[in-house]
Amino acid sequence: MTINAVEMKNISKSFGSVKANDSIDFSVKKGEIHCLLGENGAGKSTLVKILFGLYNKDQGQIKINNKPVKINNPAGAIKEKMGMIHQHFMLVDRFSIIENIIAGQEPTRTWGTSIDKKKAAVKVKEISQNFGFDLDPEALIENLSVGEQQRVEIMKALYREAEILILDEPTAVLTPQETEELFEIMESLKEDNKTIIFITHKLNETMEIADRITILRDGKKIGTVNKNDTTPQKLANMMVGREVLLDLEKSSKNPGKEIFSIKNLSYKNPVSGLELNEINISFKKGEIVGLAGVEGNGQLELEEIIAGLKAPDSGEILFNSQKITKVSTRERRNMGLAHIPSDRNKYGLVGNFSLAKNILLGSEWNPEFKNKFMIDFDYLNNYTDQILKEYDVRFSGKNSRASELSGGNQQKLIIGRELSRGAEFVLAAQPTRGVDIGAIEFIHRQLLKIREEDKAVFLISAELDELMSLSDRILVIYEGNIVARGKVEDFDQEELGLLMAGHSREER
Ligand SMILES: Nc1ncnc2c1ncn2[C@@H]1O[C@H](COP(=O)(O)OP(=O)(O)O)[C@@H](O)[C@H]1O
Ligand SMILES: [Mg+2]
Repeated sequence: MTINAVEMKNISKSFGSVKANDSIDFSVKKGEIHCLLGENGAGKSTLVKILFGLYNKDQGQIKINNKPVKINNPAGAIKEKMGMIHQHFMLVDRFSIIENIIAGQEPTRTWGTSIDKKKAAVKVKEISQNFGFDLDPEALIENLSVGEQQRVEIMKALYREAEILILDEPTAVLTPQETEELFEIMESLKEDNKTIIFITHKLNETMEIADRITILRDGKKIGTVNKNDTTPQKLANMMVGREVLLDLEKSSKNPGKEIFSIKNLSYKNPVSGLELNEINISFKKGEIVGLAGVEGNGQLELEEIIAGLKAPDSGEILFNSQKITKVSTRERRNMGLAHIPSDRNKYGLVGNFSLAKNILLGSEWNPEFKNKFMIDFDYLNNYTDQILKEYDVRFSGKNSRASELSGGNQQKLIIGRELSRGAEFVLAAQPTRGVDIGAIEFIHRQLLKIREEDKAVFLISAELDELMSLSDRILVIYEGNIVARGKVEDFDQEELGLLMAGHSREER
């Protein structure tokens, strides 16, 4: 008989009128990596929070190792040898790794006595070595990267003898390299017959790491499949509930004349010290130029300089052969620059403004929206309705504020606003971050449409799939330098990953 490490039967949970989990059956075999896949709001977190005793279920049964259990709180779950790694870590900054790991564990007896602390240290070191955590137990949390802190959380669970590990979207906060490192740790845990529930909404991660996959949509279980019997396309269709085109057709076309360029641009970030070094990029009509890089290597600085939010220390920016280096953001927009910002909350939307007012943002001075000296609200409302329809923005009521939209719909609102103005140069920074695959497909179509209309797109993205499928040319940025550039056909994903991590082309 196979042992099901976890068996959840007929689980339901509502929040008010929202059925977050609707009669879900979910079982996980001992020793497997089981992916829980679904779009935002599908009910994944709710299901594992019920399992871990953080939420009370409205109905249903749970078995652990084929035995019925009642789990009323996390302490109960830990007793059943479960461990959960949350998205927000619960570590004390000024304590060492080891102190964090043993804190909270039998505090009255263990905490403070040096002998027990020594014993604990031995155990922590053992865990670290056995599973390849590669951490110094004496290091302070405040000196660790996000990926390292996450590893401490996993070690903490293992220290408490967890056999079933629940990881809720652990890769959302990780760089591609850190994700690979996490996957290696997960593999070595699996070799030790640990059971892992791994939540994600990313297809490539699922296909890389899962043994089996359970797909949720709108609170319902759609199915459980073996990784080897499925494809990304099938998974996408199950997640979204309709046919999703993962690979969009890109026409072959020759780029036209240069429309935008950056010449010898340098800038030093006074806070981080990061330096952009003599950046040169030329953008031609009808092409998408992709910028690949691990976040924090100068993309944000470059984005802000192009948008006019920051001034470079030296160098020039030309738009339609006109120098715009010192031109204001507003002026740049009027000249035909659109900006889909990487930080939607800072530059994209005003959360407590209505949708229409957000559509007006940046165009307050545009005569199109004015009736003499006043904003023409009839016109604005019509215009907004059109954008909401054309860009498929889903909202609950006419008077919705931007903050009430889901992340994907906020992004579609920004994209609608930016692309409906007939811009000739589109600066699209992380345009699909935090967005569901249905909306990603839509956003990709819009960017390809811009290319078809012979306008230029500068696509700054941390998603290699996105860069490879949309770009005509690719540049790689590392520590403020463009370290490689070429036609998209000249790169493969693995090479891009290496270049992004700072390896040069010759080294390979
Ligand atoms: N604590 C809560 N209070 C109210 N609604 C919630 C709560 N947690 C989740 N929901 C709702 O339940 C649904 C499922 O959410 P969740 O389980 O977090 O989805 P996922 O993890 O798949 O993104 C969503 O509509 C969400 O808004
Ligand atoms: Mg979630």
